Amino acid sequence: MPQFKYVGEKFFAEKVSIEKITSKNKTPFYLYSENQIKENFLNFKRSFKQVNPIICFAAKANSNLSILRLLGKLGAGADVVSGGELLKAIKAGINPNKIVFSGVGKTEEEILLAIKHKILLINIESESEAKLIDKIALKQKKIINVGFRLNPNVDAKTHKKISTGKAENKFGISIKEFHQIFKNKERFNNLKIQALSVHIGSQILSDLPYKKTLGVLLKIINELNIKLKFIDLGGGFGINYSDHEQLINFNNYAKLVLDFKKKTKCDIIFEPGRFLVGNSGILVSKVQYIKNGTNKKFIILDAGMNDFMRPALYDAQHSIIPVSRSKNKNKGTIEFVGPICETTCKFGKFKNYQKLNEGDFVAIANAGAYGSSLSSNYNTKPLISELIVNNKKIKIIRKKQDLFKLINS
Ligand SMILES: Cc1ncc(COP(=O)(O)O)c(C=O)c1O
Repeated sequence: MPQFKYVGEKFFAEKVSIEKITSKNKTPFYLYSENQIKENFLNFKRSFKQVNPIICFAAKANSNLSILRLLGKLGAGADVVSGGELLKAIKAGINPNKIVFSGVGKTEEEILLAIKHKILLINIESESEAKLIDKIALKQKKIINVGFRLNPNVDAKTHKKISTGKAENKFGISIKEFHQIFKNKERFNNLKIQALSVHIGSQILSDLPYKKTLGVLLKIINELNIKLKFIDLGGGFGINYSDHEQLINFNNYAKLVLDFKKKTKCDIIFEPGRFLVGNSGILVSKVQYIKNGTNKKFIILDAGMNDFMRPALYDAQHSIIPVSRSKNKNKGTIEFVGPICETTCKFGKFKNYQKLNEGDFVAIANAGAYGSSLSSNYNTKPLISELIVNNKKIKIIRKKQDLFKLINS
């Protein structure tokens, strides 16, 4: 998180002390760095300069309208997985001609929205979906640009809950089934097959699974002698949640993709989510209470699993950074937990952590992706606010949900 660092003993977001932000904004809140998002996007673009891909930000990673707008202004398109994300991307000013729509369960209403807005591609994930889109297209007397999402049966070597490219996963169409569909493509006369797409998983830290996937794609393109305009290679690029993780070598991967592009003569689409926003955000929370358990001390935060699901959902481990640092250490083990009435509402266990007091603030690191977008009203808690910093300027980009509006249904 290069844009978040200590200046003396105080933790800063860009040029502002987080302590100062907490004095004016009630915790918990998400805090993003605008310059980090810009850097991430430009880094990604630079890494694949020769490939010149269409970069469709996976809106599920963070669908805050201001963040979509910021990425849109930088030139990003969007990968969306619902009608809501599609409408948000368009509202954020993203060109529909750079929007791709993935997902195994698109409804008729969502397909109609995609057609109405003339998006770049609907990535079909089953034969039934192809039949439905074809039927809608016929009714509307239109030819619809589509891609087929393949399940390449490649192990992305990531956490099992974020693996999407193995045969046992629900995503995409098997190679065998796609052969059948393609041989009988006249059954889908109202669809124009413009692309093949893949997305094998998330938080991927090796270029090997990507390499295998390119091999699978090349084989099927050659076997079927299929002429396509685009190949959508999905997202999945991992980030450093801790110092142990080694990121994939973009230079190597870019070379492989460039070679693949030359062989297939297709334009390349990427769908990065986490890589563009993961390290751009923190979740700032207050120590509400401290209580002694049998073998450890519980640090009870005012943020819960409803605000930040990743530890409960994926056993994700995030660093937790004191907003004001001191050398005073806790002797035993502490565990950060939240207020939600679930045992899984916890954020991490640490030994020899610095001494904390009730009322102190901490920042859960690398919370910019799949943080806010996964949050919920569980336990009838309002969605928390989101702020963004640009140098010294702070802007609220989502107000905390009004509790009294929330209780009406
Ligand atoms: C189809 C698709 N594309 C892109 C992504 C983005 O993945 P990541 O955030 O790991 O880049 C996802 C995430 O699940 C996805 O399902």
